[in-house]
Amino acid sequence: MELLDQRHLPHAVNWVCCRTALEVAEAIRALVVRGAPAIGIAAAYGAVLASRGDHFEEELSLLRAARPTAVNLMWALDRMAAIANRGTDRLLAEARTIEQEDLIANQRMAEWGAERLDKDCGVLTHCNTGSLATAGLGTALGVIRYGYAAGKIQRIFAGESRPWLQGARLTAWELSEDGIPVQLIADAAAAHLLRSGQVQWVVVGADRIAANGDVANKIGTYALALAARHHSLHTMVVAASSSIDMRTPNGDAIPIELRDPEELLTYAGQAVAPLGVAAWNPVFDITPAELVDVLVTEKGLVEHPNSARMHDLFGA
Ligand code: MRU
Repeated sequence: MELLDQRHLPHAVNWVCCRTALEVAEAIRALVVRGAPAIGIAAAYGAVLASRGDHFEEELSLLRAARPTAVNLMWALDRMAAIANRGTDRLLAEARTIEQEDLIANQRMAEWGAERLDKDCGVLTHCNTGSLATAGLGTALGVIRYGYAAGKIQRIFAGESRPWLQGARLTAWELSEDGIPVQLIADAAAAHLLRSGQVQWVVVGADRIAANGDVANKIGTYALALAARHHSLHTMVVAASSSIDMRTPNGDAIPIELRDPEELLTYAGQAVAPLGVAAWNPVFDITPAELVDVLVTEKGLVEHPNSARMHDLFGA
């Protein structure tokens, strides 16, 4: 499997070749491929590679442990495990189906989410939720692409998404490639931007949504939703049903990935803090459901998500 190495974008287009499931697991852990749906799809193809050897179960466990927060990883591997004894061709077909379903879900969410936006609005997005993170147009970025094409969105802002800079390196790149104007902001400028009147909607993706509608997404999302609510603006979460985890009751039960402090203490190999300083590096946070105005999925929209409304759309 060839993976576009997202660690080097936008400056270099390099590909990483994974010949084994273990190499896929390492690529997911090291963020060669990232973004919840893309992680699930990559892992599904990793399971196909695992099926060619004699250690399918062990290798599936290693894939499953590659990252803890995005539930798409476990969701995709559960689907692959359920048909494990049917052979490599059937597993390959399932991986392709998972990818195809995500592509279709992206289109549906983009249409429905863009319809839900107000006319002539400004949007702020966070992290990267586009083609690099999914099989298609993206989740939140798909809505932004459609909303811009429909003339509804007049201003697009993207948070840089420290420390890994998914917003600066990846979202700004995707939009520039499409010829869609975007203004990058320092993450810390978000509350000031929301106060300025230039933005009406915060539009973000999700790595996992619990049964009560609490949302795990890139660190900083919670602060955006809080600031949006304070200024009577709106927050839209866009996520395929593969990111919905009805088995996890609420955000407190979602594991939040803590990554290497070095990601925060250095930039491009250069120290940005005094040597010996410690750092705390949670890379996701939980936005409580009550701060979400609308959840857009390919199965439908959930206005002001709560347990009952989530249950109505996604079952037990
Ligand atoms: O650490 P990452 O880059 O994998 O985090 C990605 C995000 O937080 C995205 O917002 C989320 O996966 C949704 S992508 C469609």
